[in-house]
Amino acid sequence: MTVKHKWWQEAIGYQIYPKSFQDSNHDGIGDIQGIIQHLDQLKDLGITVIWISPINLSPMVDHGYDISDYLQIDPSFGTNGDFEELIAAANDRGIKVLLDLVINHTSSEHEWFKKAMEDLNSEYADYYVIKEGKGDLPPNNWRSIFGGSAWEKIAGTNKYYLHLFTVEQPDVNWENPKLRQELYKVIEFWLDKGVAGFRIDAISHIKKIYDQEDSPADGPDGLATNWELYRDAEGIGEFLGEMRDMTFKGKDILTIAEMDVEDPQKWEEYFGDDGYFTSIFDFYHTPFTVQDKKYRDDPVAFIEMLKKLVFKKQQLANGRVFFTNFIENHDLPRALNRFIPQKEINFHSASALALFYFFLRGIPVIYQGQEIGMVDYPKASIEEYVDLATHNNYQDYLLRNYTEVEALQQINIENRENSRTPMQWDNTAYAGFSDVTPWFAVNPNYPQLNYQVEEENPASLLNFYKKMTTLRKRAALQPIWIDGDSLPILEDYAGCIAYQRVLVNQKLTVVINFTNKKMTLPLEKSEVLLTNYDQVAWRKKQVELQPYQGLILKD
Ligand code: NOJ
Repeated sequence: MTVKHKWWQEAIGYQIYPKSFQDSNHDGIGDIQGIIQHLDQLKDLGITVIWISPINLSPMVDHGYDISDYLQIDPSFGTNGDFEELIAAANDRGIKVLLDLVINHTSSEHEWFKKAMEDLNSEYADYYVIKEGKGDLPPNNWRSIFGGSAWEKIAGTNKYYLHLFTVEQPDVNWENPKLRQELYKVIEFWLDKGVAGFRIDAISHIKKIYDQEDSPADGPDGLATNWELYRDAEGIGEFLGEMRDMTFKGKDILTIAEMDVEDPQKWEEYFGDDGYFTSIFDFYHTPFTVQDKKYRDDPVAFIEMLKKLVFKKQQLANGRVFFTNFIENHDLPRALNRFIPQKEINFHSASALALFYFFLRGIPVIYQGQEIGMVDYPKASIEEYVDLATHNNYQDYLLRNYTEVEALQQINIENRENSRTPMQWDNTAYAGFSDVTPWFAVNPNYPQLNYQVEEENPASLLNFYKKMTTLRKRAALQPIWIDGDSLPILEDYAGCIAYQRVLVNQKLTVVINFTNKKMTLPLEKSEVLLTNYDQVAWRKKQVELQPYQGLILKD
């Protein structure tokens, strides 16, 4: 029996952080025409859907995640016409386009917010979360996700507005039906233009259970992060269900929520055919790094921790929800620096990591630059960082009595600008990203590490990614990649991550040695669909894997 798959189940995704992808108009900032220039390469890489981080009009305090007009493209990226051209050019190459939908907050430059601030009795004031202060203090002691109080005083009043992110990103008031209707119109507007769906930003925060009482302080700043009250808070389902019914329902689109739904019992309610969204970017594996003191001298312990986390989720998801699998995005340091001991970052470890996540059940997504093995770019001083959240985190370390040197060391390891350095296309000035000084410094390793060098080298990471996408797209394997369960095997072999994709009596095996030593595993010789070494050393009923060797086997 052949099961008809939905297009997005077969999808191979690619995230574009547009500011840093390709500048086409000589202003040092990436843009839509720059994306169009690289569509052929994306097609060649095997990509079938791109997610573009926000490109709407924005003062760029949070690089586009602060939108001041939902219906316009920011001029630094181009025009609405350019975007339509991009959709058409991408579709011509079999690539669909997802927009980033930022509807937990607007920019403080949005018309709605400006009107609200001009007149707190106007209907726009009810578009935002505004509360009375407590004496000289904010309404409560909630901490913003980016640090500091989540409340900002409105000048000349004793009222405050809520901002779970930066001060310039006021949260909208989802309790107001009029505001919700306005947001649904935004969704319809972009669907009419032909987008194939959305990645939906910070959506788990739209419901707030306001509490006048302070929560118990959990840091030296006296503030509290009280997730229960503003992350996946009770009652959020009413908003998510209404949004689905008014906008996404019945359309053949892909909607990926940026959220963690910790209670697996709720997954069907949230994701899948009858859920609020199609799929989920879940962050269960992202807070960890092998550079952590705990793992620095014991990277095998790191791999063991990771494998448990991943298979717990995969096993719960089998036959139920379709995850979106990723190891990098624009909010995280580069995956190679987080998963691989720094001295061991090379082609073999990078391709091993890629093999590991790419064949899990779900939609694999590549973040720009990951396919060529881009790495972190630690800075010599905090002034070299642009991101507000990074600066707040630095201050927070100082508050926690780190010295400036220690705080910077920590920031260099964990800050999200590591993944925002301009894309390294070639070895010309500014890595071919731009011909003028880019908005953010290029990693100085670009003369050796760039797309062109890798395109020309058949043994490069880029060409390995192409082999992986080809294998994912092989028609005969579609049923097992999509419908097969993900089941861990060889779990007792420390430093080894191995799993099978199983569908009725079909089986594919993915095995990876995540150590810097050879590893012998009990596996019978079978057809090798892909490996990141030239050879596979089969012994009697055993295989000897080289350091960071990975295999995909077919029974
Ligand atoms: C999550 C986005 O990925 C991040 O970049 C942004 O700063 C926050 N949401 C706020 O929109």
